[in-house]
Amino acid sequence: MHNIVILISGGGSNMEAIVNASRREDWERNYHAKVAAVISNRADAPGLILARTNGIAAEFVEHGRFASRSLFEAQLADAIDRHAGSKQPVLLLLAGFMRILSADFVLRYEGRIVNIHPSLLPAFPGLHTHRRALESGCKVAGATVHLVTAALDCGPILAQAVVPVLDGDTERSLAARVLTLEHRIYPQAIAQMLQRQCAWDNRGDASKGFA
Ligand code: GRF
Repeated sequence: MHNIVILISGGGSNMEAIVNASRREDWERNYHAKVAAVISNRADAPGLILARTNGIAAEFVEHGRFASRSLFEAQLADAIDRHAGSKQPVLLLLAGFMRILSADFVLRYEGRIVNIHPSLLPAFPGLHTHRRALESGCKVAGATVHLVTAALDCGPILAQAVVPVLDGDTERSLAARVLTLEHRIYPQAIAQMLQRQCAWDNRGDASKGFA
C-alpha cells in the first residue's frame, strides 16, 4: 500500500478534494494507495477538523514551537514516517502548506513531494499570485501541480490548467475561480502518478518511485 500524507496550513479544500477523489475513484483498489494522514503546521488549521470529519487521521506539528527549521522538520518527518507505515515510499502532498522546506527535507522525500501553486508557473512563484496576475494585466490565470525541488515553486510541472481573468475581477474572485480549478487538477495529477507507479510495481520494479 502506498500511503499518502497531506500537509496543510489552512482551510484544506484541496486536501478534501483529494480525499474525495481517492474514495470516488477507489484508489485503494485501483492503485493500492490511500490518504493515511493529514498534518498541519498550525494547530488551528480548519483543515484538521475537515480531515477528521472525513475519517482521516489528523495531527499538527507547530513550527512556532521549535527553535530552528531543522528541529521542526525533524519532528515533521517523524510524524510523516509514522504514517508511511510500510516499506513502500510515502507520497507527500503539499496542499496550501505555507512553510518553505529545506533542501535536506526535500532530498529525504525526493521525487515524492508534490505541490499545487495558484498560478501558471513559472509565472508568479511565491505569494500574492492573484494580486500580481491582476496587476500585470494577465488575461488568463491558472494553477500548476509540480514536483517539489529545493528551489521554491520551480520543480518539474505535472499538470496545469487555465481560467480567464474577467473584467472587474478582484483578488478574491480570481482566487475562487482558480481554487475550483485546483480541486480538479490536483487529484487528477495524483491519480496519474499513482497509475504510473502501479505500472512500475507490476513490472516488479518498485524502486522507480513516483517521478
Ligand atoms: C490554494 O490556493 C493553494 O494553491 C495555495 O493555498 C490555497 C490553499 O487552499 N497554496 P486550501 O487550504 O486547499 O483550501
